[in-house]
Amino acid sequence: MDEIIVFDTTLRDGEQSPGASMNTAEKLEVARALDLLGVDVIEAGFPISSPDDWNAVNEIAKMLTRPVICGLARCTKKDIEAAASALEPAKKPRIHTFLATSEIHRKYKLEKAKDEIVKLSIEGVTFAKTFTDDVQFSPEDAARTELDFLCEVVQATIAAGATTINIPDTVGYSVPSRFRVVIETLFEKVPNIDKAVLAIHCHNDLGLAVANSLAAVEAGARQIECTINGLGERAGNCSLEEVVMALRVRGDHFAKRVNVDTTRLVPISRLVERVTGIHVQRNKAIVGANAFAHEAGIHQHGMLKDASTYEIMKPEDVGLTASRLVLGKHSGRHAFKQRLEELGYTLDDDQFERAFGYFKVLADRKKEIFDEDLEALVEDEIKDVPETWELLNFHTSSGSGTIPTATVRMMNADGEAVTDAACGDGPVDAIYNTIERVTGISARLTDYEIRAITAGKDAQGEVSLALDIDGRIVRGRGVSTDILEASAKAFVNAINIHLFQARPTQ
Ligand code: KIV
Ligand code: ZN
Repeated sequence: MDEIIVFDTTLRDGEQSPGASMNTAEKLEVARALDLLGVDVIEAGFPISSPDDWNAVNEIAKMLTRPVICGLARCTKKDIEAAASALEPAKKPRIHTFLATSEIHRKYKLEKAKDEIVKLSIEGVTFAKTFTDDVQFSPEDAARTELDFLCEVVQATIAAGATTINIPDTVGYSVPSRFRVVIETLFEKVPNIDKAVLAIHCHNDLGLAVANSLAAVEAGARQIECTINGLGERAGNCSLEEVVMALRVRGDHFAKRVNVDTTRLVPISRLVERVTGIHVQRNKAIVGANAFAHEAGIHQHGMLKDASTYEIMKPEDVGLTASRLVLGKHSGRHAFKQRLEELGYTLDDDQFERAFGYFKVLADRKKEIFDEDLEALVEDEIKDVPETWELLNFHTSSGSGTIPTATVRMMNADGEAVTDAACGDGPVDAIYNTIERVTGISARLTDYEIRAITAGKDAQGEVSLALDIDGRIVRGRGVSTDILEASAKAFVNAINIHLFQARPTQ
């Protein structure tokens, strides 16, 4: 069977989702998970776009040796040099350079004629080739480009040395039957098309990214660009979990092989939800909470007789396992450590002691502790951001007919405890107003979401929020069995991230 190359761009296009920015530690965690998932190419970032992005690409390039590590660059020397330097430690580096080709982009964005576009594309690919053999070129907005011109650019860039040609439907405008024609035309009309891998990159503005990608595969495309949870600009990109499962479940139809370990799909989806704070909808295919839930009596009846009546894949195939009771109040250090190791966490001594301390507190509050609780607990403890402000304790008073008030005690970086109190519209607002007074940082809450990590009345609540501080959006996350505490922790986490990001650098 022919192999389809899975090119993941969660860390580049995915990170361009409004509010999805990740810090370097988070990107490394996602990159490790992508490696375990088995994707062939990881587009780790857009190195020229910021020092943080450069750094993340560079760290990932040092860390992973199996997959190809790719960095994005416009067709300019500065961009390509930045990508090349970030990728320098990579065992398998790829430079992905792009230039828009559609009439709309030529006229309004680039103000360039066709021949200039061809010339710049050739120059970009030729320059990228001086750093690595593996060069990918994307004619941006290809799906809205005149087909003759698209063929001309593709032919020229392959001749200049591009080893992968990626055809993006940048604005998610195409439909499957049309996108198929685009790919078929390239195969028919570009004489040197066999010298490169043909890839596709579909956006989801009309909800057709997966369908368009599959149509392109039917027409002969060999690389699919996609993201975990379908993250990406605007409505996102082709969702990795959906396209991979379509190829796997309908192997009878597509007859293509993908090297992805599908049992890691749900865990990586949850990880990306946690680090970006962007949660998938319940009915999202493959990884949504309802993807394997059966409500109607007739369906439940069929399922009890034979799961194949209403399920086309098994929950275990995508890594959905029933929550397992793992530890309780009497579990000791050894059992705790062993389970963390099984879940893939290696903590240093300090982190372990902090996590164990919190585990004991949690075990007092909550009878049963599941894997998801442990994951939340550890991720809460090993945030890579110094705790400039630490929440020591808080008290709130609220109820109907009273003015919600909060008292909060926090410790600053010098070890001094600071206490203050304030009112608010509700207890959460009162806590937030008080934290602002204590820290002297004023923040506007732009997003707030709360959800239960596991089932049951004693489940831990997870709060994800976004704050606008001095015009910059920062996300925070907090977990506790007490939702007010989770809310306070999330706010303090966002403030600490803000202080860390705003610190002076030498
Ligand atoms: O959507 C797009 O066109 C892109 C390119 C940079 C490939 O993301
Ligand atoms: Zn894109």
